[in-house]
Amino acid sequence: MDTPLSRYTFCQSCQDSASALRIDFEEYLNNKLAQARKEGRELYVLDIGIGSGWQWKKFLLENPDVNFIGTTLGDYLLVPEIKPRAILCSAAELHKHLAPDLFDIVVSHYGTHKQEMEALENIVHVLKEGCEAFVSGSGTLEYAPLVELSVFERWFGQWAGM
Ligand SMILES: C[S@@+](CC[C@H](N)C(=O)[O-])C[C@H]1O[C@@H](n2cnc3c(N)ncnc32)[C@H](O)[C@@H]1O
Repeated sequence: MDTPLSRYTFCQSCQDSASALRIDFEEYLNNKLAQARKEGRELYVLDIGIGSGWQWKKFLLENPDVNFIGTTLGDYLLVPEIKPRAILCSAAELHKHLAPDLFDIVVSHYGTHKQEMEALENIVHVLKEGCEAFVSGSGTLEYAPLVELSVFERWFGQWAGM
């Protein structure tokens, strides 16, 4: 799966869900970069689970001043331009490889399989205070417009006493 950056953060199985984000991640990224340049800061970006990294190639070639790191569980698919910026590590062990409070933006699009909770804990660890992270993936409730009562009951009824 190679998702264009503009489609990052979109929940693929819950298009109508009230919880599905509706940002254009590429636009968000460019705005944050423009803001950082204006303030004379460098931008640090982490993508957890990059696949081949193809989706980052154009953006990183055009913006070589961005400090980008991508993680993957296997580097055999990586495009050559992304290889030097990739590290092999699971979403649960970011803290072993990356400094705390480092990143301005952390994103993961279908890249934290089976480790969603550990990923969140690690993301908070590596994210700078006051900065933002976007995580979408298989841990998102399936086909889940939570506004539908039947779905709400199925997932949360036992705790809500329904
Ligand atoms: C389905 S691809 C998604 C690639 C890319 N994010 C995209 O949307 O095009 C999954 C990627 O996430 C990585 N991955 C899956 N589960 C992971 C986990 N628990 N921790 C770290 N990486 C993971 C895989 O190695 C692979 O690079």
